[in-house]
Amino acid sequence: MSLLDNLGNAKLPITLCSGEGPLLWDTSGQTYWDFYGGHAVTLLGHGHPRWIQAITAQARQLSFCTTIADVPVRTEAAAALTRFTGTDRAFLVNSGAEAVEGALKLARKATGRKVIVAMQNGFHGRTMGALGVTERYRGQHNPAHGDTRFVAFGDLEDLAKSLDADVAAVILEPIQGIAGVRLPPAGYLAQVAALCTAAGALLICDEVQCGMGRTGAPLVSRAMGVAADIVTLGKGIAGGFPAAAVLMTEAVAATVRPGEHGTTFGGAPMACAAIKATIEIIEAESLMAQAHQAGQWIERWLAVPGVVEIRAAGAWAGITLDTPARPVAAALLQRGFLVGTSGDPHTLRLAPPAAIPEYVVRMLGRALSEVLTGQTISGAA
Ligand SMILES: Cc1ncc(COP(=O)(O)O)c(C=O)c1O
Repeated sequence: MSLLDNLGNAKLPITLCSGEGPLLWDTSGQTYWDFYGGHAVTLLGHGHPRWIQAITAQARQLSFCTTIADVPVRTEAAAALTRFTGTDRAFLVNSGAEAVEGALKLARKATGRKVIVAMQNGFHGRTMGALGVTERYRGQHNPAHGDTRFVAFGDLEDLAKSLDADVAAVILEPIQGIAGVRLPPAGYLAQVAALCTAAGALLICDEVQCGMGRTGAPLVSRAMGVAADIVTLGKGIAGGFPAAAVLMTEAVAATVRPGEHGTTFGGAPMACAAIKATIEIIEAESLMAQAHQAGQWIERWLAVPGVVEIRAAGAWAGITLDTPARPVAAALLQRGFLVGTSGDPHTLRLAPPAAIPEYVVRMLGRALSEVLTGQTISGAA
């Protein structure tokens, strides 16, 4: 298996060739309800007409220009993003891991310190810096990058013990995604922010997976009452077009000098058109309210025998089973439902489009029940 041909991830036994809204088709014509959104990306669903229109219009107008010159659509996308998230400044990049790299670099620059505190079971990406703060994979490429201290997610005492005058930043996902959609105890993030302030360390909230409306809020950190120094976004930021962002306060931005950071493709016109269109669609179609509603349907219809716990946060949920999740996901695929797994072998991860209809969630509940009990349930969904 080569690292270079994108086969690093386990592949599904199907070849997907088209999609529309919450539906996908494979090359044999079989349809699937998409409860995974390609690793939690497509909150808008597939092929949204307004999104297609925005990208194609931009391709005709100006298909590419780097940050060597200003481009109206880049200014507009950055303005839309900072307005939507209530942050000061946005630096546009290409992927979640690149956003994390930028965030770590900024924190070291802004504080003049080197140590990063990260969370056990967190995930921040596969590039060297991001791997360095991802305990689960850090050892894969020794010597691992960076001086990192790992603490238990949700444990304030553990965090307090790890903070000293060497710590540049604490990085965490406000809700841990790949760990299986794990929420911290109430009030935790605000206490983390207070501990960071007391220690002179920055707070980096990695919202690559949980941000951009998926949980029913533009940013989870803001919904938890916290204005982080740096926030990373990716995945759903441009409705499936490759794009990501590092959001930051003016104070952090002020520490960066020209020439200290850059990217060729980050902030490319078509990505910016996609970011702008994504925000417009989320707002015009009340997708955050719809995501919230989807979470309620997931809690209602997926609570079937064999499900131990459901942790829904909008159109995003960890479903912990009393049995290993991978065979269940495979059986659901055979029944026409594409669901994700997680870092927890017993947990399925769902990330459907915000506008997933209730009857489809109900059908998934029936299929899940059928798979978990080994029975066929009769009757229409
Ligand atoms: C929280 C979080 N941060 C960073 C990343 C890395 O993003 P990308 O795969 O776009 O590099 C991911 C990807 O799953 C993620 O979930």
